Amino acid sequence: MLKDKVVVITGGAGRIGSAFVKSVVEQNGIAIIADVNHVAAKMIIYKITTELAPKMENVASRIMFINLDIFSKISIQEMIDLLHEKYSRIDALVNNAYPKSKNYGKKFFDIDMQDFNEFIDLHLGGYFNISQQFIRYFLKQGHGNIINISSIQGVAAPAFETYEGTDMHSPVEYTVAKHGLIGMTKYMAKMFKKDGIRVNAISPGGILADQPQRFLDQYKARCGTKGMLDARDISGALVYLISDSSHYVNGQNIIVDDGFGL
Ligand SMILES: NC(=O)c1ccc[n+]([C@@H]2O[C@H](COP(=O)([O-])OP(=O)(O)OC[C@H]3O[C@@H](n4cnc5c(N)ncnc54)[C@H](O)[C@@H]3O)[C@@H](O)[C@H]2O)c1
Repeated sequence: MLKDKVVVITGGAGRIGSAFVKSVVEQNGIAIIADVNHVAAKMIIYKITTELAPKMENVASRIMFINLDIFSKISIQEMIDLLHEKYSRIDALVNNAYPKSKNYGKKFFDIDMQDFNEFIDLHLGGYFNISQQFIRYFLKQGHGNIINISSIQGVAAPAFETYEGTDMHSPVEYTVAKHGLIGMTKYMAKMFKKDGIRVNAISPGGILADQPQRFLDQYKARCGTKGMLDARDISGALVYLISDSSHYVNGQNIIVDDGFGL
C-alpha cells in the first residue's frame, strides 16, 4: 500500500513508533526513524531487519535512522535536506514523539503552572514546530501528508474509574495537549487543503506495557474483545492514512480503541 513512500516517524524508536516503522516497511515504504534515542533506534532497526529479511528483499535499504529533536529547527532542516537529496521527496510526516517534561506525571493538586506549561510547550509546541517546517517543504514540493498521534485522552476526559485500586493516573496536561493536537490537526488541514497537503490524526486507546492486572481488568470491562491494545493494532489506521486509499480524507481523527470510548 505504500510503495516507495518516504515516511518520517518521529519517536520511531519508541513503543508505538517502532510498530509504525515495521508496518511501513512491510508495505514497501521507506521508514525514517526520527528520534533523539540513537541506541534504541539501532536496536529497532536490527530487530525489524532480522524479522523481515526472510520475507522481503533489501529490508535494510527501507529503514533509516536520523538523529532528530522535534524542538531543533536545525536538526529538522538537516533531515529535510538529507531526505530531499536522497529521495527527491518526502511523502509523509508522522508526529508521534513523546517528549516528557521534568515533573511530568504529577497528580492534579501537585502540578504547578510551570510544570503544566512545560509539558504543553514540549508536546504541543514540539509537534507544531516540526509540522510548520515540514509544511514549508510540502508547499514547495506540491504535496504532503501529516498524521498526528493523539490519544483517547484527546477526545474525552480519562476514565478515572479504571485506575481505582492502583497507583496509576493520567495527568491533566496530557489530556489538554492531546485535545489541542486534534484542534491543530483540523486547523492545518483546513489551512492547506488547497495545496495538496492532508493532515489527519489517530487516537489510540491504551497500549499494553506491563500495567497492573487490576487496571487491565477494569480497562477491559469498557472494551470490546481485547482491552488494552498492542502497538501493532494501531498500524492499520496509519498505513491507511499514509496510503492513496485515503486520498480525500482530510482533517479527521481515527479512534482505534476497541470500543473503549463508546
Ligand atoms: N502508550 C500509550 O498507551 C499511548 C496511547 C495513546 C497515544 N499515545 C501516543 O503515542 C505516541 C508514542 O507513544 P509511545 O508510548 O510509543 O512513547 P514511547 O515513550 O515508547 O516513545 C516515544 C519516543 O519519542 C522519542 N522522543 C522523545 N522526545 C523526542 C524529541 N524531542 N524529538 C524526537 N524524538 C523524541 C523517544 O526517544 C522515544 O523513542 C505519543 O504521542 C503518545 O502520546 C500513546
